[in-house]
Amino acid sequence: MKYRELDRANNRVVRLGLGLAALGRPGYINLGHAEDLQSDYDVDTMQRHAFTVLDAAWEAGIRYFDAARSYGKAEVFLGSWLAERNIEPDAVTVGSKWGYEYTANWQIEAEVHEQKQHSYDRLTTQWQESQENLGSYLDLYQIHSATLESGVLNQPDVLKELARLKQQGTAIGLSVSGPSQRDVIEQAMQIQVDGVDLFDVVQATWNVLERSAETALIAAHDKGMGIIIKESLANGRLTNRNQSKEFQQSLACLQQEADRLNTTVDALSLAAVLDHPWADIVLSGAAGVDQLQSNLDSLNVNFDDQARSRLQELSEPATQYWQTRSQLQWN
Ligand SMILES: NC(=O)c1ccc[n+]([C@@H]2O[C@H](COP(=O)([O-])OP(=O)(O)OC[C@H]3O[C@@H](n4cnc5c(N)ncnc54)[C@H](OP(=O)(O)O)[C@@H]3O)[C@@H](O)[C@H]2O)c1
Repeated sequence: MKYRELDRANNRVVRLGLGLAALGRPGYINLGHAEDLQSDYDVDTMQRHAFTVLDAAWEAGIRYFDAARSYGKAEVFLGSWLAERNIEPDAVTVGSKWGYEYTANWQIEAEVHEQKQHSYDRLTTQWQESQENLGSYLDLYQIHSATLESGVLNQPDVLKELARLKQQGTAIGLSVSGPSQRDVIEQAMQIQVDGVDLFDVVQATWNVLERSAETALIAAHDKGMGIIIKESLANGRLTNRNQSKEFQQSLACLQQEADRLNTTVDALSLAAVLDHPWADIVLSGAAGVDQLQSNLDSLNVNFDDQARSRLQELSEPATQYWQTRSQLQWN
């Protein structure tokens, strides 16, 4: 599997990946998104901005890039950048996702930003669109936010079609969100089509606040699946930008540990994820080059027992975490 074969021995490739959720469209739920883009939503400007961040990521050794059909023009920006920079498909790993349609029409305040449908028709339509945008660069196709409620893991026509894509050479994955992440991963690990395990990769949320998927992720890793971790910074909540009154005590703890280890709060929080050998790829969701450079410092943090034990205290019940997340505003 490309995720594990990537050559890390000579530091050419780092364990961080770059997600394009904050780069492909004007609106997102991360705390300071409007400020990051300086409220300039001209498509060419946004594409240039995305290219700058992608260039910086490449320069730093990042070789996994994560998009989705619902991230506005993320697939288009990524596909154009890869082609313009003449990057060989074998030199990079690209993942995208199907299941949500982007419906915000390049607006910040849309009634519905993304519309979810985990049907066979949505899969085949979006697969065609992703092919047009990413062509032979597309290595991994993931169900976007599979849940027990969406029923996608019980839909024979969808599973069969995914198995067909897998047979043709595309790795198949699922991303999971919400307090039942663990249950969904456990169910996905059991799914076989014609006697062959379907899922190669799972993308899940794990951060110092929300650790509930950990046992399932370890089991999936032990089974040989690739593990991609998203929302390592809790959508920007694990950064200095978080001014929420309720979070100030936790932030003070993070800041103390970051100061002690001579790093930043965001790099420390990412280092807490990198500390786990089962996390094959840890996504940075950087909205700009400064954030990316700060995130990259996580690779140099000497994460130790004291940091491990102090950050463990920040862990919250999954229901509380996802409740707070559901209140983040699109901006
Ligand atoms: N269901 C799914 O499949 C799913 C869901 C979510 C994400 N993802 C993937 O995971 C990737 C990462 O997730 P994410 O961006 O949602 O969450 P994240 O990685 O937890 O947060 C990233 C955000 O943190 C803030 N940040 C980062 N570095 C910072 C710094 N040095 N100083 C201040 N703020 C900083 C920025 O937000 P602000 O500047 O706006 O505050 C940035 O956009 C996405 O791009 C996407 O590829 C997948």
